[in-house]
Amino acid sequence: MEFNKIICGNNVEVLKDFPDNCIDLTVTSPLYDLMRNYKGKVIDEQNGYSFPFEPLAKQLFRVTKDGGVLVWVVNDSVKDDVGKSGNSLRQCMYFRECGFKIHDYMFYEKNGSSFPAVNRYYQTTEFMFILSKGEPKTINILKDRANIWGGSTSWGTKTSRSGSDDLKEQKSYVTPEFGARFNIWRYNTGKGYSTKDDYDHPAIFPESLARDHILSWSRVGDVVLDPFVGSGTTAKMAMLHKRKYIAIDINQGFVDDSIQRVNDHTPIIGDNDNYSDEIFINQLIESEREKIVKKYHKEAKEDFKKESTIDDFISF
Ligand SMILES: C[S@@+](CC[C@H](N)C(=O)[O-])C[C@H]1O[C@@H](n2cnc3c(N)ncnc32)[C@H](O)[C@@H]1O
Repeated sequence: MEFNKIICGNNVEVLKDFPDNCIDLTVTSPLYDLMRNYKGKVIDEQNGYSFPFEPLAKQLFRVTKDGGVLVWVVNDSVKDDVGKSGNSLRQCMYFRECGFKIHDYMFYEKNGSSFPAVNRYYQTTEFMFILSKGEPKTINILKDRANIWGGSTSWGTKTSRSGSDDLKEQKSYVTPEFGARFNIWRYNTGKGYSTKDDYDHPAIFPESLARDHILSWSRVGDVVLDPFVGSGTTAKMAMLHKRKYIAIDINQGFVDDSIQRVNDHTPIIGDNDNYSDEIFINQLIESEREKIVKKYHKEAKEDFKKESTIDDFISF
């Protein structure tokens, strides 16, 4: 099978030509109900989906390798009469009927709401369903979340009950500076944030979202699929992180532009052969550390200003 390609076509039909068990990871975001009117979209009127969801779900299960993972980023539309469509949850349950395991419900939180609701709380999250064919074969939990108590030593002697109900002494420990992420991932979104590329597509997901799933559920050299590739985000991030990609979109304009986008980016991190996920993740942690240092620097400066004002006042 040929990889590093972006194919134009209806994904269900294109996937029929793929062999069984050929994909390690899929990171994708379908059309959300009928919210957007893409040229050439295929509508499954019967199910109310904006593309033939059920045949696609079956194909995705067939092409996924044992232990492979599917990340399905989705949200419901809302209508006054029925409220939320519920289609995201229906799709998740249908994936399970096809044989996928629901490994996790994760959420992607945006830094704002494009259409703030007046009758419900501002909607800033979308689902990221993590579905796997059996137990995921690659799990690399990202540990770039700064711990509030990082670096401090737990005080006193802790005790816990052993099986015999006696109190057991536990050693004190130093809280690591960085810990595993929570299952809500926050990203700055919108023009200039989801990507720095000058690219016009109505529903781009952040490059860092695709990147973080690629790092979590796949290894260098694995095959990453996006059957709704849109502007090419997943393909670009797979290529940059030394995975093979294969992607599909029904719209020829989007396909041409995403091929261009991928070609415009010779691997930043690894034109050299030194790229490894470990080195890259350490860079991520380092940039988090820098942000924290900057923040504390700013706060310390503010404190200093406040203190000097008080001092001035006292001396006066
Ligand atoms: C939500 S967008 C994906 C955006 C993408 N995640 C990105 O970052 O640019 C969905 C895409 O699916 C494509 N699409 C819709 N129905 C399709 C189908 N049946 N087969 C293949 N692509 C389809 C649309 O043209 C659109 O570009």
